[in-house]
Amino acid sequence: MNKSHIITHTETFAKDQLQGEGTGHDWWHVERVRATARLLQQSEGGDMFIIDLALLLHDVGDRKVINQPDDDYTIAENFLQSQDIDEDIVVAIMDIIKNMSFSRSLDKENDVPNSVEFQIVQDADRLDALGAIGIARAFAFGGSRGSLLYAPDQTAITHTSRDEYIHSKSSTLHHFDEKLFHLKNKLNTDTAKQIAHDRDAYMRKFYERFLDEWYGRC
Ligand code: ADP
Ligand code: NI
Repeated sequence: MNKSHIITHTETFAKDQLQGEGTGHDWWHVERVRATARLLQQSEGGDMFIIDLALLLHDVGDRKVINQPDDDYTIAENFLQSQDIDEDIVVAIMDIIKNMSFSRSLDKENDVPNSVEFQIVQDADRLDALGAIGIARAFAFGGSRGSLLYAPDQTAITHTSRDEYIHSKSSTLHHFDEKLFHLKNKLNTDTAKQIAHDRDAYMRKFYERFLDEWYGRC
């Protein structure tokens, strides 16, 4: 098992799969998640090989990326099986990929964090949904689905299942109430919680300003 060759192959594979993705899950999302994961790993520890492979492949079979009704984890799994990687490592990576998404966590009784590698990859991915980039990604995603920017006649829904969440037709501003403002309380590591603090505050300012402009208050 030559780890650096495997990483290089995985980068090439992931880049190819995510190229041109227009909903904020493109290769640059992976690069940002990777930089954040490295930062988290420095204070939290964890096996960087598992972290790298999991984050490189975490979105390749995502239902939004492949434009299918459901996620397809076989894309990542088949790729990993094609590489010279020990079976227990493949299992650890797939465990992260299959369980890390916000929507999946809605179906769990409680979102119990798993390995330190799981916690880091999930936190790094969630941090990319916050702050200025999080705002940009939300509107990019909403635009790709034909969502309204905001709809004053709608009310935010507290989704209690994955199925309900993924079929929601809420406006993008409602997505802030329905998901983005909850993320800072759903992080695993202290380092990520510190980073999330400012990003969450920035998003809340944006949200208030958006509504002030909407209702002619400024
Ligand atoms: P996960 O992959 O963890 O389940 P999501 O698929 O909910 O996460 O979201 C990934 C990205 O897409 C995030 O930046 C998120 O804010 C954005 N997104 C997801 N659903 C919506 C939506 N209904 N409106 C706007 N943005 C969304
Ligand atoms: Ni992601």
